[in-house]
Amino acid sequence: MPFINDVVKSNQENLAKAKANSTPRLSRFLFKPENVIKNLSNQIIGQKQMIHAVGEVLQVIKADFGSESRPLSVMMFLGPTGVGKTETVKVLTESILGDADKLCRIDMNTLSQEHYAASITGAPPGYVGSKENTSLLKPEAIEGSFSRPGIVLFDEIEKASKNVERSLLSVLDDGRLDLTGGTKQINFRNAIIFMTSNIGASELSAYHKKFDTGWRSIFKWKPSKKMESEILKNALEKKFDPEFINRIDRIVCFDRLESSSVQDLVKLNVKRLNKRLRKHNATLQLSKSAEDFFKSHYDEQYGARDLERKIIAHLEPALAFALNANPEIETFTSKCRKNKICISPKL
Ligand SMILES: Nc1ncnc2c1ncn2[C@@H]1O[C@H](COP(=O)(O)OP(=O)(O)OP(=O)(O)O)[C@@H](O)[C@H]1O
Ligand SMILES: [Mg+2]
Repeated sequence: MPFINDVVKSNQENLAKAKANSTPRLSRFLFKPENVIKNLSNQIIGQKQMIHAVGEVLQVIKADFGSESRPLSVMMFLGPTGVGKTETVKVLTESILGDADKLCRIDMNTLSQEHYAASITGAPPGYVGSKENTSLLKPEAIEGSFSRPGIVLFDEIEKASKNVERSLLSVLDDGRLDLTGGTKQINFRNAIIFMTSNIGASELSAYHKKFDTGWRSIFKWKPSKKMESEILKNALEKKFDPEFINRIDRIVCFDRLESSSVQDLVKLNVKRLNKRLRKHNATLQLSKSAEDFFKSHYDEQYGARDLERKIIAHLEPALAFALNANPEIETFTSKCRKNKICISPKL
């Protein structure tokens, strides 16, 4: 009769052996979802829910058991302006393909008129360009390779005409697009398709305004996240046909960037500036008052893009003056000490 200690020990040994023998399952895709998510978390501020959703989708793609007759995934990013929808796809492309320029990005703004469907599908027979099968789409970027997915972004999809929207149905459903010339087909079955849209942003802004005044503000009530995503999804349903919405695998609502995110956004921008300053052997440091300055000038309605513009408008000249050895400018001052440039607003 063995002692209980021996049984426990032998179980532990068996478990260790089993672990050593089990090699991780190999996927044809080289990217590591954990690394991609880490990059996203470092570069996209205040969008935890989105990062979680993208992480799940990447794990499913990596596991490689999806349908072979559809794109790898079709995601729709909804949310107000300047919250990181387009930037997220760029960071994803850089993390997965090593270069943000490998993205096939179609700005739907440029396809707002009915006859522009030809820019996607090529010109109809008999028209100029019909023989060349030319389209705005870049087949190599869309088709990717055995070990890397293609990444496609239909940016600001609400601006596309109905014809363009219809021409995308077969892409989203069947993963294929026949060019009008009839001899060529673009294959989207190895592609992750992203679409972004501002749709519902004005309704969302009206909803937020209700909390600025009246009894909601007296009781310090906050807008509800559930209500926010319902507003966005209702607007989506009003704008797009059900068959289009039905072909989207995942709809992700981006959050508004509240003023609590400003500090992180400022830090991120300073980090980027410092990267560019490396070749001058200089580093930038923001004083607390400079950080507060940007916090007080932040407007939630315009998001990070507006903040970025303000940072560039104020910091870059101050920095340039400091580098050019002339530290006094109108609104900001800079002090240089041992290659450290400290920038503060003028009192
Ligand atoms: N959440 C965020 N974290 C870090 N930077 C952000 C974030 N959101 C936006 N930015 C910065 O702001 C700029 C604009 O972002 P982006 O283009 O992604 O906005 P968007 O949500 O697509 O807005 P729009 O609907 O107007 O196109 C980018 O340069 C990006 O670096
Ligand atoms: Mg955008």
